[in-house]
Amino acid sequence: MLQLEFDERVAADDRVEPRDWMPDAYRSTLIRQIAQHAHSEIIGMQPEGNWITRAPSLKRKAILIAKVQDEAGHGLYLYSAAETLGVDRDELVELLLAGRQKYSSIFNYPTLTWADIGAIGWLVDGAAITNQVPLCRCSYGPYARAMVRICKEESFHQRQGFEILYTLGHGTPGQKAMAQDAVDRWWWPSLMMFGPPDAASTHTGQSTAWKIKRFGNDELRQRFVDMTVPQADALGLALPDDGIAWNAERGHYDFTEPDYAELTAVIEGNGPCNAERIAVRRAAHEDGAWVREAAAAYAAKRAGREAA
Ligand code: 3HC
Repeated sequence: MLQLEFDERVAADDRVEPRDWMPDAYRSTLIRQIAQHAHSEIIGMQPEGNWITRAPSLKRKAILIAKVQDEAGHGLYLYSAAETLGVDRDELVELLLAGRQKYSSIFNYPTLTWADIGAIGWLVDGAAITNQVPLCRCSYGPYARAMVRICKEESFHQRQGFEILYTLGHGTPGQKAMAQDAVDRWWWPSLMMFGPPDAASTHTGQSTAWKIKRFGNDELRQRFVDMTVPQADALGLALPDDGIAWNAERGHYDFTEPDYAELTAVIEGNGPCNAERIAVRRAAHEDGAWVREAAAAYAAKRAGREAA
């Protein structure tokens, strides 16, 4: 009976809310995906945060600080959305630090030059938006609602990345070369963000049936390519794939698939920056212990005062 109600709700595109009955596997899939997403936002602050002190102007620095702060906010909405499923944020953070929950492969690559900040905004946030706009229609209410605000902010981030690359691309030959080099390095990892091909994806079938995911990994990757190729032309930068060509029959751009063996290696912890990212996260968590203790003591004192 409960299962039937759940199935009908999903079939009718109604939202599943925290107090509704849901299958255990639906709950655990959501916890896995939302926690991974939250961890990605928080770890994702590192590659860009590295450039705050080296941004080329006060204006660029202010924009970058705001962007990195937005990522922290996204992490917080998402941890809150996960908590509506009966888990605790502390527990999720411990799982991340113990290597038992994942975060996006993309944040295991280094940011070598200022142009990387542009490439992350344009390509990584562009890929994130492509993947995340459909999540605004996820069947689980709190996740879907969190995604609405996140997508609005991500879309601003994508514009600022485009603008950085546009400026560099129309600057000196050295600046243009730096922009091109960044695009060359971030293109393939951005394609990998969408996950393995559907044929090798563990969760896509069930997650799309539950309307957690609205589309498979391959369809979203194709949408990203279709959106990005004309933007690269507008920037005057080349995408590092000779296989990109308009396919009139399909109505899409053909492109070369990324190296999925590299994706697997990065997911398994063997990317260029995996160890550094987790070490920095662990140190930040330990350094912040006094803040959590102070906040808990304050909350307990306040609750005591209110009860009195
Ligand atoms: N990085 C790390 N792990 C990945 C991955 C990636 N790019 N792509 C897939 N995986 C993992 C999956 O988590 C799964 O492992 P698990 O079973 O241990 O959890 C395994 O590889 C198989 O992949 P599936 O396709 O079966 O997994 P999903 O159905 O969960 O699809 C996904 C993967 C498309 C990333 C999906 O989880 C998703 O849409 N997540 C929400 C969005 C998200 O997390 N984005 C991360 C980037 S956030 C961001 O970019 C911040 C912004 O500020 C830039």
